[in-house]
Amino acid sequence: AMVDKGNYRHFMAKEIHEQPDVVARTLAHYLDLNAMTTKVPEGLPFDFANLQRVVITACGTAFYAGLVAKYWFERLARLPVDIDVASEFRYRETPLDPGGLALFISQSGETADTLASLRYCKAEKQHIGAVVNVKESTIARESDVIFPTIAGPEIGVASTKAFTCQLSVLASMAVMAGRQRGVLSADDEGRLVRALTETPRYMVDALKLEPQIERLARNLAKASDILYLGRGSSYPLAMEGALKLKEISYIHAEGYAAGELKHGPIALIDETMPVIVIAPYDKVFEKTASNMQEVAARGGRIILITDQKGAAAAGVETMETLVMPDVPATIAPMVYSIPIQLLAYHTAVFMGTDVDQPRNLAKSVTVE
Ligand code: AGP
Repeated sequence: AMVDKGNYRHFMAKEIHEQPDVVARTLAHYLDLNAMTTKVPEGLPFDFANLQRVVITACGTAFYAGLVAKYWFERLARLPVDIDVASEFRYRETPLDPGGLALFISQSGETADTLASLRYCKAEKQHIGAVVNVKESTIARESDVIFPTIAGPEIGVASTKAFTCQLSVLASMAVMAGRQRGVLSADDEGRLVRALTETPRYMVDALKLEPQIERLARNLAKASDILYLGRGSSYPLAMEGALKLKEISYIHAEGYAAGELKHGPIALIDETMPVIVIAPYDKVFEKTASNMQEVAARGGRIILITDQKGAAAAGVETMETLVMPDVPATIAPMVYSIPIQLLAYHTAVFMGTDVDQPRNLAKSVTVE
């Protein structure tokens, strides 16, 4: 079927704005909204209770979704996760105990390195699970069980809605795993499922920051390097933010774990380099705030993405603060994806790049 841009200037803008809808649709597939429980997919060939660990493999944005999932699986289900980019995993010859779960995340389901990793894990007698958007893809076909994202066709080369749908699937799976492993009580599950169902509504709120982000992007477009910082599940988001910006604006950006700053990159800080800090007011906020103060003390220009409590507790002067809705910690990665995507998008629009078809990039990388 033909997909058009509707009233949007680019597919990427349309896809960013579709997120509350497609995330709701995806979540409805994994959550029972009457019983307030997760829905275990029919014919699931393994039980999370019997797993020793999960191995996750993916590329690019899908890899960052997997990294967020590592935080969820380990915290909510006490299930250890090994994760690597597919181009490394496939040549590492990782020893795997038979009967383990190998999870592959891919929008297209055709990424060559991810597929090669899948075949390696199959030969090593793993259960093969795939979080895919294209259900008729090779990765979907070669998997034992598919966890579909219901994002609809994603046309923009920069992945947006596929990412938040991947996160929605993986968060639901982590809650399911936590329940099956007896880490979460029925009450815990109910509370987490309720939080997940609120994601689309909070995404709608986050989208309202667009005019402020557009003004800010005018400024960012002048930078030649931008640093993104985050801690905990905001760390993969920092890397995703940097990737998105690089892809479509061609501005050099790096995502770093906030605590790693003083181990090197702090040497780069001066008044010319914007530092984007992703920091919801969560358990690690105070730690991130002290990293931010280190940046401020060296004249760094801070753009803080946080909520009201975080804005009040930051203790630094920022160049700009984006005040997000106050959201439950588990769903923050989905909701905080919105300002990160909008920042990259509007910066690229200001620079006049080909947002939907950036230079040198293909939508799906089917060569090695
Ligand atoms: C994301 O914006 C990228 N264009 C890219 O990193 C992408 O996520 C990666 O190539 C993986 O693609 P897949 O999800 O189709 O496997």
